[in-house]
Amino acid sequence: MADIAKPSYYVTTPIYYVNAAPHLGTAYCTILCDVQARFRRAMGFDTMLLTGLDEHGEKVADAAAEHDMTPQQWCDSLVPAFTDLWKTLEISNDDFIRTTEDRQTRAVQRLWEVLRDRGYVYKGTYDGWYCVPEETHFTETQVRHADEERHTEGQHLCPDCGRPLERVQEESWFFKLSAFQDQLLELYSAHPEFVEPEIRRNEVVSFVEGGLKDLSISRTSFDWGVPLPFDERHVTYVWFDALINYIAAVGYGDDSAAARSELSRRWPAQAHVVGKDIIRFHCVIWPAMLMAAGLPIPERVFVHGFLMVKNSQTGAGEKMSKSRGNAIAPQDVIDMLGVEGYRYYFMTDVAHGQDSSISFDRMEQVYNTDLANSWGNLVSRTVSMSAKYFDGRSPQLPAGWGERPSPLRDIARGLVERYAERMSEFDYAGGIGQVMELVHAANRYIEDSEPWALAKDPAKADELAFVIGGLLEAIRVSAHLLAPVMPETSAETLRRLSLGDEADSCDLSAVCSWGRMPGGVALAKGPALFPRLDVAR
Ligand code: MSP
Repeated sequence: MADIAKPSYYVTTPIYYVNAAPHLGTAYCTILCDVQARFRRAMGFDTMLLTGLDEHGEKVADAAAEHDMTPQQWCDSLVPAFTDLWKTLEISNDDFIRTTEDRQTRAVQRLWEVLRDRGYVYKGTYDGWYCVPEETHFTETQVRHADEERHTEGQHLCPDCGRPLERVQEESWFFKLSAFQDQLLELYSAHPEFVEPEIRRNEVVSFVEGGLKDLSISRTSFDWGVPLPFDERHVTYVWFDALINYIAAVGYGDDSAAARSELSRRWPAQAHVVGKDIIRFHCVIWPAMLMAAGLPIPERVFVHGFLMVKNSQTGAGEKMSKSRGNAIAPQDVIDMLGVEGYRYYFMTDVAHGQDSSISFDRMEQVYNTDLANSWGNLVSRTVSMSAKYFDGRSPQLPAGWGERPSPLRDIARGLVERYAERMSEFDYAGGIGQVMELVHAANRYIEDSEPWALAKDPAKADELAFVIGGLLEAIRVSAHLLAPVMPETSAETLRRLSLGDEADSCDLSAVCSWGRMPGGVALAKGPALFPRLDVAR
């Protein structure tokens, strides 16, 4: 039963091509969304995280044939590679949509009918170029320019990925994208937050200002797709189909009362998170489709950059991708950093709006500095000291102890607000950076207040209790705030403080208010949360 008092927060990942095994790039985008969803849940939003798979299209049909399978069998065989990895990486998706599901077919066909009734689709002939790996159409002019730039000598290559193009001449249904130029420009100017960061918005605006052409949105040369409800020889263009997943998952096309109420509760989405290579689809075509159907536009498309790796021959940074053969398998990083170290590195060391170079050296450095030496060390030192000086428990402190000034309390004041402001803008380095200030301050506080010396002097017993209580409190607050990025270690830390029940709190401000650490609770030392890495290379 939905809690109507809570605002909805609906966030989506792109649906990934089922054909290509997930790699660090796709995992990165999925974790980015997962952190936002976990953060929103902790802030009390009625949150929904959607991910899924894009399973139609010529590329999938061709691959299935090569493997002597039906396209459906082929897709089914590939799904576990994604669902297993998402589970390992602690992705908390509330739903998982596949474009081969009935709910997707129903939604796509409904949209076709609505667009036909509203006069936004028409039948014509498509005569141009098609890139099967990228599932994208290109005009004669685009191809000519790209060929000139690349000196391809008679061979026509994809302007985006450089692979050979297919000449397509077939009957096709078209979407009147050209009718939406003004409305789209109005959208970008009235709602600049619709495309973020700004550099991507500028790119989208200048693309639309350059003029829009109607879009070919059906194919007849193969049949692995959603058939048009009124012209069965045609199947829906794979991108047109894929974008509709975002509304299909929340009830579009289903007339039951439950589905209607889900649609009005969830739509429009608060955020679509996508890579910079697919912004035209999400920031131009998708809002135009919604405008044509009379549906509300999502609040924002947050565009992230690419993970880059160094080319071993040239030393230059290049996009990591399966087709370039430079993709790092997520398992290799998990083996080195553990899942939570993996999540921490990608979420805090990569600037999400830009391209970012990643390397194993840097992973080791971030892990050791922030997790092993700072956060993990703080937890183990503090719990050990408390256990040692207070008989395995947290110290008893007088009521109102949290009001007494201390360097930790000063940082903790307003921390949730500073953190939340950044986290809600997908600035995880900024948000987590705020928490790490508390962690670093707590480690310094240990050095400055020297609990081991206080423990030797019975006259300083109250002071010792205050210091250790403050440190435990800093750990408790930090564990809550780090939880969206590292859910399991935060839950484990709270369990060690006998506060396991707090882990599910959905009122971050209340749970993080300073001074709530109870006295006299049992503390568990446990093994190091982040054992130091010493990778011999
Ligand atoms: N199926 C379409 C999306 C349809 S959404 C309605 C698709 N799939 S994809 O599997 O090719 O890519 C999905 C996402 O992975 C894109 O957002 C893309 O930017 C991202 N990445 C692929 N390689 C990447 C990096 N090296 N770095 C970061 N993300 C990258 O496109």
